[in-house]
This record gives sequence, structure tokens and C-alpha cells, in this order.
Amino acid sequence: MLHERAFPMAELRVLASERSAGMVVPAGEGELTVEAVSDHALGGADIVFFAAGGSTARRYAPRVAENGGIAIDKSSAYRQDPNVPLVVPEVNAATIAGHHGIVANPNCVAIPLTISLAPLERAFGLRQVTLATYQAASGAGKALRAELEEQLHADAEGREPRAGVYPHVLHGNVVPGGWTMEGEDTEEERKVVAETRKVLGMPELPVSITTVRVPVAVAHSAAVFVELERPATSGDAREVFRGAPGVVVVDDPAAQRYPTPRDAAGTDSVYVGRVRRDTGRENGIAFFFSADNLRKGAATNAVQVAELLLG
Ligand SMILES: NC(=O)c1ccc[n+]([C@@H]2O[C@H](COP(=O)([O-])OP(=O)(O)OC[C@H]3O[C@@H](n4cnc5c(N)ncnc54)[C@H](OP(=O)(O)O)[C@@H]3O)[C@@H](O)[C@H]2O)c1
Repeated sequence: MLHERAFPMAELRVLASERSAGMVVPAGEGELTVEAVSDHALGGADIVFFAAGGSTARRYAPRVAENGGIAIDKSSAYRQDPNVPLVVPEVNAATIAGHHGIVANPNCVAIPLTISLAPLERAFGLRQVTLATYQAASGAGKALRAELEEQLHADAEGREPRAGVYPHVLHGNVVPGGWTMEGEDTEEERKVVAETRKVLGMPELPVSITTVRVPVAVAHSAAVFVELERPATSGDAREVFRGAPGVVVVDDPAAQRYPTPRDAAGTDSVYVGRVRRDTGRENGIAFFFSADNLRKGAATNAVQVAELLLG
């Protein structure tokens, strides 16, 4: 994404664990050799993108900040820290001014969700949000994506598909779990609720959610139902979505045009469609979105945050 967006760089280094040290990876038009992360390897960096889980971020992000650099973290380690802005540039860019060397990125559902909710909040006010997600295998990392592919081959070849990374075979399945549980909720459900509230600056917003993993390689989707403060027709809501940054409206169901994860994969927008009145609640609007979890849900958002820092 740094190369694709022509981010100004004097030098780019790629770090991972000891396991990957020495591996050669494509970068722009060239290649880079992966180094093992260490305090020394991070020395002198102006901006460090962390996409390596909470414990790695907790170990190294404060070092980056102490050395005068800025850590942009994809993990959940700092998302609820009141001293760390949680930034979706299309929604709350101004909050980045309050950073102290660490900026957090929301979860890959919270990013497209807040991008689609923020314009509704501005135009009509938001009272309540309900959603069910359809989350891709790659959202759980490269291991589950590889496992899904292997299961697809196994099923096609008449072999018994195996589950290793995940508690269930994902291919040919829909799994309303697989995340760590926090009480009766998945950790993912708790994260999306808390992060949506923080990004929208609405700490009391009622959000009801069930997170579900589906056998899709890339791009998360969700069916969303909102209750608005002021009434809006589906046409009003569609107009608001059309003018919203980061949103592309794909909404002609009679012609079989609506967002799908397959169309969203490899792009940087949040695709919104199936916009309609939800007659089951007062001032209700329903819609569906798809967005690439690896790009807008992760890398693109992180690079946009870095662009904000450059001013
Ligand atoms: N996938 C998504 O859609 C998505 C979206 C938003 C946020 N996130 C978050 O991003 C983070 C990474 O997720 P992912 O899906 O990219 O996982 P992943 O595909 O499993 O990749 C993890 C990366 O972290 C590196 N790593 C692991 N332990 C390390 C250590 N001790 N020191 C240095 N590097 C280490 C790994 O390198 P090795 O191969 O060398 O171990 C690998 O490059 C997680 O916090 C996740 O919640 C993911």
C-alpha cells in the first residue's frame, strides 16, 4: 500500500519474527529481505506500521514513541487506551492531533461500519445499530486463509477436510464463533461495539452484533439495521451514502447489483447496497456492506493514517 499510494519514503524496512528473518518479499517493483524485529532494528524509524498482534505491539510500540517515531498499530492492544487516538480518516481524522507517538487502527469490521454509519449520524442522528457479520477467513490471518484453501482442495478431491487453525472446517460452512469468548459474547463482538462507539464519539450508542465467519478468502460483509433520530426514506439514506467519503453505493437489486465480498476484494472502498426501510423499527433503515479487510480494513487505513501525520 505504501508503494501503491506513493507514500514518500527515504528507506523502507520490513521486520517480522525470527521465523521469517531472511525471507525475501516483494515490495513495490523490487524485493526486500525480512529482518527479525528488535529494538536495534527499529532504531531511527520515523513511522513503524505494526501488524503483528497485541503482545508485539505492547513490547515495541512504546520504544518507537520514546525514540521520537510514531507507531501505527493494527492490533487491539491500544485501541481503548484513552491516550491513543483510534483513527478512521474518513470519520474522525481530527482526533489524530491528540497522539503521543502511538495511533491505533480499528478492527476490520469497525472500519467499514463506522465509515457507513458516520454519514447517517450526521444527516439523521443514530439511535441504535444492529448487525450480523459475514467475515472472511483472511481476517483471522494468513494461517486460516491457507487452511480454507486446503479444505476446498480436500473437498474437491474427495478427501476429508481438516480443521487445525479453527475449531470447525470453514469450507462449505458458516461459523458463528471461533473467537475467544468474553462472557456470552465473542471477543470480536465486544471489540466492534467498543471501537464503533470510540470512533463515532458516541460512548453510549447501543450496538447489537453477532460475528460470523464465512468461507470467503478476502472481504468482510455485514447486514446492518439502524434506528435513526429523524425519519428518512431509503432514497434519502442512499443520497447520504452517495456523498459519503470512502463509500461507493451499489444498489440495483432488480438488476442483481449489490455489494459482494468478491467485488470488494482488492479495492479500498466500502460498498453499500440493499438500502431500504426497515419497517420493524421506528425510523429504521437496513443496508448491507462489503469491504476488503486486508486493505481498507487494515493496510490502507494504516497508510491513510500515516498520510494524515504528514499533513
Ligand atoms: N487480517 C485482517 O484482516 C486484520 C485486519 C485488521 C487488524 N488485524 C490485526 O493485525 C494483526 C496481525 O494480523 P494478521 O491477520 O496480519 O496476522 P498474520 O497473517 O498471522 O500475520 C502476523 C504477522 O506478525 C508477525 N509476527 C508474529 N509474531 C511476531 C513477533 N513476536 N515479532 C515480530 N513479528 C511477529 C508474523 O511474522 P512471522 O511469520 O515471522 O511469525 C506475521 O508477519 C493482529 O493484531 C490482527 O488482529 C488483522
